[in-house]
Amino acid sequence: MNRELVFEIIRVTEAAALAAAPWMGKGKEKAADQAAVDAMRAVFDTIKINGTVKIGEGEKDQAPRLFIGEKIGCGQNCPKLDVAVDPLEGTALVAKGLPNALAMVALGEENSFLQAPDMYMEKIAVGSGARGKINLDASVEDNLRAVADALNKGIKDLTVIVLDRPRHQELITDIRRVGARIKLISDGDVAGGIATGLAGSGVDLLMGIGGATEGVLTAVALKCLGGEIQARLKPLNTGDREKMKKMGISKHDHLYFTDELARGESLIFAVTAITGGELLSGVNYSGNFATTHSLVMRAETRTIRYIKTNHTIIHKPEYFPKGIFNIEHGASSLI
Ligand code: FBP
Repeated sequence: MNRELVFEIIRVTEAAALAAAPWMGKGKEKAADQAAVDAMRAVFDTIKINGTVKIGEGEKDQAPRLFIGEKIGCGQNCPKLDVAVDPLEGTALVAKGLPNALAMVALGEENSFLQAPDMYMEKIAVGSGARGKINLDASVEDNLRAVADALNKGIKDLTVIVLDRPRHQELITDIRRVGARIKLISDGDVAGGIATGLAGSGVDLLMGIGGATEGVLTAVALKCLGGEIQARLKPLNTGDREKMKKMGISKHDHLYFTDELARGESLIFAVTAITGGELLSGVNYSGNFATTHSLVMRAETRTIRYIKTNHTIIHKPEYFPKGIFNIEHGASSLI
């Protein structure tokens, strides 16, 4: 894949983040999500790819933009790529003004991504230091012991990120019994997965059940960071089983490894923060200017770039959705 796309694709996540950020703390999840989707979709039209959305906003009948199967990018003659998007990962985080709401995109060659249905997935993820040491089917204790050994730490010094949900009560009890520390998050397990792969994040593992599409995006990020994720779909009802069938998944209890979720090395992952957290600072507005902070990575070389961009809003090109900043009490004076 053309490595210049690293610098192109960041425009897409920046646009989504710029559009969603004015909604921070306004309690309007749908409006924030819509703003991110519209902005991301508009900027995709300027990117030189012949892309197909493989992980997106849902089926065509539910999602008018960035739906699964939608063709995006500006060139029939450009490279055919698969695209996985989450214009706003952590809708509730933006609505409540909490950290780590992210806009993200992954690019891969054709058939790079597991076509994950919109349902739950059980996950365990670690960074490069503990790659090859985890096993989703092993006990919590065995996993924590193996990761602690690999990282040359005591179990009590490990930090595990877990989504704060009633379904994780047993998992949380088990982690506490073994003695590791837990960081409970209200939303956003992709940020948790990425944190396991970033040196100095203070996070060693992600464990628990979250969204399946988020699992695929986490896998792409961890391929770029040299980490590992193991995952299993968790159908809750016949509706979920139907979704799996539609995606051609017949084995309901299949254990997915990183390379099945995100195939090959020709992968790019880009993320721009909407609200600031440990991973990245959030969008900052000041008069006609805005600053975004992004992370963009390539699996082939494992290069990790942090990109800080200063935007002059009034000079945004025509394709930039007009009026996206024009919300009550938002950056309404900008356009
Ligand atoms: P959304 O941005 O779609 O709201 O997802 C946020 C999220 O917290 C994901 O990070 C996570 O994988 C999933 O929701 C967990 O689902 P649930 O909130 O149903 O437990």
